[in-house]
Amino acid sequence: MLSVGYSVLAILFSLILNHVVSTWRFNRKYKLPNVVPGWPIIGNTLDVPYPAGMWGKEMAKKYGEIRLVYLNSSRVVTDLLEKRAAIYSSRPFRPMLSDIMSAGARMVFMGYTDKWRNQRKIMHSILNGRQAEAKFVPFQNLEAKQLVYDVFVDPENYQKASQRFSNSVILSVIFGRRARKDDELLQFILGYTGVLGDFQFNPLKSPADVFTWLDKLPRPLQWWRPFGEKFCKTHVAMFQKEWDLLIDKMDKGIAKPCFAIDVLNGAAKKEFEIDNIEKIYTWTSLVEAGSDTSRIAILQTIAGAACYPEWTKKARGFLDEVCGANAERLPSLADRPKLPYITAVMKETLRWRPFLQSGVPHTLTKDDEYEGYRFPAGTEFSWNAYSIALDENEYANPLVFNPDRFMNGNLDKWAQGHWSFGAGRRICVGLNVGANNIWIAAACLLYCFNFEEDPDYPIDQLNTVWEDPTKPPFKVKITPRSEAHIALIKSEGAIALAADY
Ligand code: HEM
Repeated sequence: MLSVGYSVLAILFSLILNHVVSTWRFNRKYKLPNVVPGWPIIGNTLDVPYPAGMWGKEMAKKYGEIRLVYLNSSRVVTDLLEKRAAIYSSRPFRPMLSDIMSAGARMVFMGYTDKWRNQRKIMHSILNGRQAEAKFVPFQNLEAKQLVYDVFVDPENYQKASQRFSNSVILSVIFGRRARKDDELLQFILGYTGVLGDFQFNPLKSPADVFTWLDKLPRPLQWWRPFGEKFCKTHVAMFQKEWDLLIDKMDKGIAKPCFAIDVLNGAAKKEFEIDNIEKIYTWTSLVEAGSDTSRIAILQTIAGAACYPEWTKKARGFLDEVCGANAERLPSLADRPKLPYITAVMKETLRWRPFLQSGVPHTLTKDDEYEGYRFPAGTEFSWNAYSIALDENEYANPLVFNPDRFMNGNLDKWAQGHWSFGAGRRICVGLNVGANNIWIAAACLLYCFNFEEDPDYPIDQLNTVWEDPTKPPFKVKITPRSEAHIALIKSEGAIALAADY
């Protein structure tokens, strides 16, 4: 009995000694910034609220320039995520989320691997060239016609118009087809994005993603695995239907040029190396990452117009010079060179209230030193988006929506001057599509309508994630500018309503 007691004591002693020695060694080797107090083992995992914008801003005020490691100034984001992108571009290892639920092929969760590089190269080559502009801009111009028509018909539910526009552009760009009413694929995506979000942000949902060693348990003991595998299987089957539909249209010669066709052709000609599951997940990743982002951004332009009407007068003056003061025609993306102020509106929309409020984590792949700190490989870094956007040292009067702040020599570098598209090598691969979406939506909405805040229902300007697309996120009075504008909205709307592909 005594010897059993001694053995237990000896084991405990050696565990404690091991912990003390490894902590001592870690502290000697690495030097981390001030730590926000948390719990043993899980640290701050359960403390970070969602959305984390204002929490992150408070933490930045309290703890200084570097934090998670949250990076709280453009200077440190540039120094680390941009200039040292070669080692700051991976993602946290999430066995459930990225491997089981996503077949290891959903790009946004991938580490900095050859597979990621390959998918990224394919997406970039199709989405970001001149050719891409020629292919995708017509979809955006057309959907903008329906955007203004939908807002005109149901101004109180303006959020639906923004959602339809964004979904339809992304389906057109990826699959060459418009969004249908009650679109089956979109309903399906809407159903599962909440689940994905839950697994991404709620550590209790996904123990293997917090304690990654659980991934080494024998498979029958991994109780979370069957759910993840079923999730993935259902997903692949749903996107396979979309693929079959496209092949059918290609056979009939009625398919529109789109991303999915370019991937299929590129793979057939061996320009791209990509297997069938990965093909499906490149489409998936783009549809998922490309629709809600634009939907919320457009709502933010509307909120910015209603809360700070001064700039809208200026924007309308420029729009009238180009498109006529008497509603002669709708703006189109071909007007961009003549309308730099709308480009500034697009950039200010992205800066004003970044909806990925605390950024997206980038994982360090090699030990690194920075300004006296020593970080171990595996540390996660995120730009603290809200905090930087609302910092007076970064922007004068940061709460105010003021496009003029972007009227400078960098105007045409769409990702410069804000961090809403991310940073370094992980920067949003669809940023041209996203930027054009915001541009054309802002131009057409401002040209056609006045936006007024209801003094009885002031817009909550600090809480702008607006996830629920089923109800208006804030009250706003939207009225057409004149009878001539109504006539234009109706005639352009009719063209869009008749377009069927
Ligand atoms: C207003 C529009 C958009 C915003 C604000 C936005 C923002 C972002 C951000 C912040 C990231 C993470 C960057 C990082 O980790 O550093 C990202 C990644 C990504 N975005 Fe966008 N995005 C938008 C539109 C789009 C569109 C239209 C597409 C597709 C056509 C798209 C596709 C992607 C993909 C695939 C990734 C993952 C990149 C990777 O992990 O390497 N996004 N986006």
